[in-house]
Amino acid sequence: MKRILLDCDPGIDDALAIALAHGSPAVEVAGITTVSGNVGIEHTTPNALALAEFYGMDVPVARGAARPLVRPGSAASNVHGNTGLGDVVLPTAKADPVPEHAVDHIVSTIAASPGEISLVAVGPLTNIALALQLEPRITEWVREFVIMGGSYTRGNFSPAAEFNIAADPEAASVVFEAPWRTVMFGLDLTHQARATAAVRQRFTGLGRLQDELLSPCLDFYGSNRQYREHGPAIHDACAVAYVIAPELFTLAEARVDVETSGRFSSGMTVTDFEPEAASNAAVATSLDQEGFWDLVTDSFGRVATG
Ligand code: BDR
Ligand code: CA
Repeated sequence: MKRILLDCDPGIDDALAIALAHGSPAVEVAGITTVSGNVGIEHTTPNALALAEFYGMDVPVARGAARPLVRPGSAASNVHGNTGLGDVVLPTAKADPVPEHAVDHIVSTIAASPGEISLVAVGPLTNIALALQLEPRITEWVREFVIMGGSYTRGNFSPAAEFNIAADPEAASVVFEAPWRTVMFGLDLTHQARATAAVRQRFTGLGRLQDELLSPCLDFYGSNRQYREHGPAIHDACAVAYVIAPELFTLAEARVDVETSGRFSSGMTVTDFEPEAASNAAVATSLDQEGFWDLVTDSFGRVATG
């Protein structure tokens, strides 16, 4: 069975990605590490702990970087609310984060099980860049490395850049330059995964998961201007879904470089699909939407919220 180590910034779609990973019988969640992104680390860490308890998970949660490598932080509280889960306030978790910093936790978890861990990063890439600097051999020891981030067309943070990359472009640049194959789920793909009214209809009957989390979170998230017309994109769940069911996605090999100094293009993932480009990434281009929502609905149905 695949084992996922999920680096995240919950975050509404992060919360759904955690539920998908936990609910799927095809993967085990080895750990959750948090990073500052959608909201600050003082919220993403308690959110991860509270979500884990709400979902009935027994999993280590490690607190990570409080700020990007170089720049000041840039939150997305307009999309995710001031504390990260819209208007939802979950009971405070009984558990504490593990004493290890997220960066140490990433390295030690991967080092303990070479070839086994699917490292999935769905927030700014600060922790991953720091882990690479601490132990470059994680590139050899991971089973696969998957991110939600970037775009080969337009951004959402700016016309050129997607939020997770724009929030810490220097970290993203370190990550894409490392000698591993980054599997990239950018906006071009994740905008195909929208929780439309028809999709949300399928979540009725999921009990507390639906009533206390999915429904209020998706109401809040879907009211954001960018999502009003076509429904909210459940970005982060796409990266987790790939680990569970790669056959749902079409990927193309590409060279991806991160713009760190552009006046108007900082955080852009400059993507070259030409066959002669020195590929460092597999970029997701299309999604089997029906299969994706079948997987998500089935997995959510297995989350025992008590
Ligand atoms: C990404 O940015 C965050 O707001 C979401 O959680 C997702 O990881 C989408 O651009
Ligand atoms: Ca996220």
